[in-house]
Amino acid sequence: MVLFLLRPTCRQRKGRESPGPCRIEGRRRGILENEPRSMEAEVMKALIVSTNSPEETLVLGRMLARWLEPGDTINLVGDLGAGKTVLVKGIASGLGIDPAQVTSPTFALIHEYTGDVPLFHFDAYRLKQPEEWENLGYEEYLRGNGISVVEWGDLVEPYLPSEYLQVKIEREAAQGDGRTIELRPIGRRFHQAIQELGKELQHADLGYRYCDNHR
Ligand SMILES: Nc1ncnc2c1ncn2[C@@H]1O[C@H](COP(=O)(O)OP(=O)(O)OP(=O)(O)O)[C@@H](O)[C@H]1O
Ligand SMILES: [Mg+2]
Repeated sequence: MVLFLLRPTCRQRKGRESPGPCRIEGRRRGILENEPRSMEAEVMKALIVSTNSPEETLVLGRMLARWLEPGDTINLVGDLGAGKTVLVKGIASGLGIDPAQVTSPTFALIHEYTGDVPLFHFDAYRLKQPEEWENLGYEEYLRGNGISVVEWGDLVEPYLPSEYLQVKIEREAAQGDGRTIELRPIGRRFHQAIQELGKELQHADLGYRYCDNHR
């Protein structure tokens, strides 16, 4: 197990070809106006997992799904083709949804899947105006009885709940199938979950480590 300092979160998107969406800014994070955001709650360890194939990322998603509960939100961050949708397929599979059904919501901002619990799969990449996000009724989804997974969630970060799991996927090299996947709890909700997931990974054939608390 290795402890090390994380680089600052990369908030810049790279290599986008389409006109692309806007980033929603200028609103405090948290759906409820009075939602508390303690500094302490943000200081959490992150779990870093290495996968060497899409199949391994699927396995990680499936393992993660076991720790998810209705009302949970995951913010999926990573460049185009990083593997966000592959991870969602794994989560879907873990929730009893056929992963073949799961595709990036190309022409829609959201896909809903029915599993053991509903899975709400958002993709903020095509967002053009903040109003589009608001018109989705995102609050209903995020507060609702399903699990919300938001690809490119950093683009709508101010609209995310105060507690969510941030999952950042990075290619380990320009070519190849290696991916570094960082699971970072924002708020308290996922702290225990990533500790438990880390224990489970000891029995899976995936490399993992914890990193320190710095964002
Ligand atoms: N270790 C890995 N984990 C996940 N995907 C991998 C891995 N190695 C290779 N891949 C490949 O990378 C691609 C990831 O595509 P995916 O649609 O999941 O990306 P994405 O992050 O959702 O991109 P977008 O932002 O365009 O939605 C797939 O073709 C997958 O087979
Ligand atoms: Mg995708």
